[in-house]
Amino acid sequence: MDRISKNTEREPLLSFSTRIINTRFANPDIYGAISQPIYRNAAFEFPDSQTIADAFQYRTDLHTYSRISNPTVANFEEKIKTASGAGQVMALASGMAAISNTFLTLAYAGANIVASPHLFGNTFSFLQSTLSGFGVETRFVNTDDLQEITSAIDQNTCAFFAEVITNPHLEVADLPEISKILRNKNIPVIIDTTVIPWCGFDARKAGIDIEVISTTKYISGGATGIGGVIVDHDTCDWKANKKLGSLPKPKGMSRFMFKLRSEIARNIGACMSADTAAMQSLGMESLELRYKRMSGTAYGLALHLSKQNKISEVNYPGLDSSPYKAVSDRLFSDDPGAMFTVTLDSKEACYKFMDALKVIRRATNLFDNKTLVIHPSSTIYGAFSPEMKKIIGIKDNLIRFSIGLEDIDDLKKDIGQALDSI
Ligand SMILES: Cc1ncc(COP(=O)(O)O)c(C=O)c1O
Repeated sequence: MDRISKNTEREPLLSFSTRIINTRFANPDIYGAISQPIYRNAAFEFPDSQTIADAFQYRTDLHTYSRISNPTVANFEEKIKTASGAGQVMALASGMAAISNTFLTLAYAGANIVASPHLFGNTFSFLQSTLSGFGVETRFVNTDDLQEITSAIDQNTCAFFAEVITNPHLEVADLPEISKILRNKNIPVIIDTTVIPWCGFDARKAGIDIEVISTTKYISGGATGIGGVIVDHDTCDWKANKKLGSLPKPKGMSRFMFKLRSEIARNIGACMSADTAAMQSLGMESLELRYKRMSGTAYGLALHLSKQNKISEVNYPGLDSSPYKAVSDRLFSDDPGAMFTVTLDSKEACYKFMDALKVIRRATNLFDNKTLVIHPSSTIYGAFSPEMKKIIGIKDNLIRFSIGLEDIDDLKKDIGQALDSI
C-alpha cells in the first residue's frame, strides 16, 4: 500500500535536485517513458478474485481504485520521499486536506491540540470552529514562550502545531527547543512547512515528526494546481496517543500512516488527482532553482523597501530588524523564503498602493512564478470578527508580498511608482 522507495538509500550522495529529477517509477513504463505517465483511470482490473481480495487486505501493494491510491500520485509521493528523506508520505487534494486529514487521524473527542494562533486563516478556522465541534479543543499559546507551551500540555494533548514561518506574521518558533520538550512527553510535533522547502530547511533535524504542506505553493511549479502532502518522518511511537497507541504496529508503516491510509483519507475522499500529481512532479524538478531565486529576490527587495520612507515597516525574518533573525539563521540555509509583509499608514494607503501596481498581481497565493500582493485583513481574514483578528494578529494596514521569478529591478520600479501614488 505505501510504496516505500529505495531511492533515498540507493543514491544518498546525490544532491537535492539531482535526487528529485532521478526518482524512478516503482514499475518501469513499458514504452520507456522518462516522464511519469498520467493514469487518469478510476479503477484497476484484476486477473482473479483472490488477487483483488489480497490487494484490498494489503497483502500486495497493487492499486485498486484511484481514491485510495494511483500510480501517478504514488510517483509524486516517491519524489516527496526523495526530497524530504521521509519514508512515509501521502499526497492529498490540497494543503487544507493535508491539515484536516492529519488532525482527523490523531485527534479524538476529549483531546487537545497546543498550537500557535498565528496560522493561515482556514487552518485557524479548522482548529477553532470545525474540530471544536467534534470535541477537540485547541489551546492557543505564544510559541516564543516555552513555559507557556509546557503549561498548556496535559495527558490529553495529542499534538503541537505551528507554521515554520507564520503566515503572514513571519514569526519563527525555535522548533529544536520546542521539540525537546515535546519528545520527552511523547507528543508529536506537527509543522506546516509550506513556506520553506527541504532544500532550505532540514525538518527532521529541527525535531519535526510530521510535516503538512500545501504543494499548491513552491512544489507545484508555478501554481499549476491545488495539492497537499503529509510527510511522516516516523519519529513518533504514538504510544501516548489514546486513539493510535492501542493499534497494533503495522509492518513497514507508522500507526499514524496506517490509520490515515486505511481509514481516514479514504473515508474523507480528498485524494490528489493524477493530473495534479503529474504537474506537481514536474514542478518539483525545478523547486530548488525557483526557491533560491525567489528567496534571494525577496531578501533584496525587503532590504530595499526597508529604506523607503512611505513604508512604516518591512517584516522579513532575513532582515536584521526582525526579532526572528537569529533563529531563522540557525534553522534555514538560505534567505528565509519568498514571503514578507509591509506596513503602510492605513488601509486606504494599502488599497491605493496595490491598485497602482502594474507588474505585480493582486491575487491570493504564495510562491507562484508571478509576484503577488494581498491585503490579508480584508480577504483571507475578511470573515473574521475584529476580536478574532486581534487574537490572530491581523492588522488593517498590512500588505503581504509573495515574490516570484521576475527581475528584481522591474519589481523595484513597479513598487516605486505605486508608492509615488500614495
Ligand atoms: C501556510 C499555508 N498552509 C496551508 C495553506 C492551505 O493550502 P491549500 O490552499 O493548498 O489548501 C495555505 C494557503 O495559502 C498556506 O498559506
